[in-house]
Amino acid sequence: MARKEEARYVCSACGHVALSLLGRCSRCGAWGSFERERIPGSGTSLRVPRRDGSGILRKSQAGAVLLRDVSSGGRISSGLDEMDRVLGGGWMPGGVTLLAGEPGIGKSTLLLQICGAMAEAGKRVLYVSGEESLSQVAERARRLGAVSEEMELVASDDPSLFLDGVEQYALVVVDSVQSMRSAEVETWPGTPTQIRAVAQSCIDAAKGTNVPLVLVGHVTKDGQIAGPKLLEHMVDTVLSFSGEHASSHRLLRASKNRFGATDELGVFEMAQKGLLPVADPGRVFWSGLQDDVSGVARTVVLEGTRPFVAEVQALACQTPYPYPKRTTRGVELNRAQLLLAVLEKRCGLSSRNSDVFVNVAGGLQIRDPAADLALCAALASSMLDRALEGRCCFLGEVGLAGEVRPCGRVAGRLREAARLGFTRALVSRREAKDLECEMEVVRVGSLTETLRAVLP
Ligand SMILES: Nc1ncnc2c1ncn2[C@@H]1O[C@H](COP(=O)(O)OP(=O)(O)OP(=O)(O)O)[C@@H](O)[C@H]1O
Ligand SMILES: [Mg+2]
Ligand SMILES: [Zn+2]
Repeated sequence: MARKEEARYVCSACGHVALSLLGRCSRCGAWGSFERERIPGSGTSLRVPRRDGSGILRKSQAGAVLLRDVSSGGRISSGLDEMDRVLGGGWMPGGVTLLAGEPGIGKSTLLLQICGAMAEAGKRVLYVSGEESLSQVAERARRLGAVSEEMELVASDDPSLFLDGVEQYALVVVDSVQSMRSAEVETWPGTPTQIRAVAQSCIDAAKGTNVPLVLVGHVTKDGQIAGPKLLEHMVDTVLSFSGEHASSHRLLRASKNRFGATDELGVFEMAQKGLLPVADPGRVFWSGLQDDVSGVARTVVLEGTRPFVAEVQALACQTPYPYPKRTTRGVELNRAQLLLAVLEKRCGLSSRNSDVFVNVAGGLQIRDPAADLALCAALASSMLDRALEGRCCFLGEVGLAGEVRPCGRVAGRLREAARLGFTRALVSRREAKDLECEMEVVRVGSLTETLRAVLP
């Protein structure tokens, strides 16, 4: 290697690194998103400070220790049960969490409420706002009732100022990482270099002092603004806060968690007084029982340990185009296409001349394969234009041979469906023999058998 590279280019949308300036990102397809960055270690100002303090050992100290001599820090409760559930029990000392979400979804509201609740419980918390003035934050805190003598506010965009002395706090919130400006690098706030420098100094401070720290990061639907994607591998936990602006429900989920599971879903409702935990989340994604519309089927999906009734809606209508359209929301497009192929091959229901649209009510993103059977039933119901019974739910995975497979923890799902008033459930024939529940349980072996049972 003759020449030493001293600069590289980073896509501000997705963080892709290239050695020359590209007009269009080869990873995410964004135009003009590259920003020049000096490579650390080639005589530049981008300094990566060494961690020290109690969190990470310095090189000179680094020696093997016995596992039993290392204390595992206890969790710190966030004061909101839904938040603790998603985190896996509370904040981890020294853990850095990124809370990502679209603008206006309620990130500041959520964190302000948490700071209020923790301060109320006698803990010292610091809320740093780089976006709003102190009076704006205070006004919001008063509206949310998150006022406590112990809560400390800073309006600053310089991490070196507020990171001094973080060891006194039980939690530090930095709102937002895009608004901060580190003096160590010379670019504008919000650029990849700045975001990484700010995040690194926050991470060093958290690890060094064993204080949990939260970074707020904005994302937009098309990923135009630099941000959370760049940080995902740097932080310990990534929480995404989502919801439809038209609806008041907000969903909190961990997409990465070094200290816990990533499958718990927290459900909130946005109200005048801030975000309230939803009392009966089991029915949040379900509009009620209507049985006169074709293309609608219900199922019970598990999000972590919690069952939720979900409503899958399908619409198949004759296409005017040579290539029929397939659009899905809430279900993976590939999954829907695969099940359409299974329906055609195993049940003789062709969608070749139909545009097919699939939607899951309430903004839920279904990842549970147990919803396959409901999706197939909804698709078939729409293709045949015949409604399914409203008090019936479908629980099972569908294989390529058109077989219906068992789904995990079916008993808990049946109990939830029974509680919400369902009277009939279709499950796989291979499910355990003794399923106790107050519903009629119909066992099916194949998709054909299922359709014969519900759309005779
Ligand atoms: N006075 C109010 N009464 C009721 N709801 C309000 C009021 N003010 C704001 N909200 C709600 O709070 C939401 C904004 O929340 P918040 O500022 O916490 O979002 P954010 O994710 O931090 O946004 P940003 O990305 O702009 O910082 C608004 O969309 C609105 O629904
Ligand atoms: Mg905000
Ligand atoms: Zn990119």
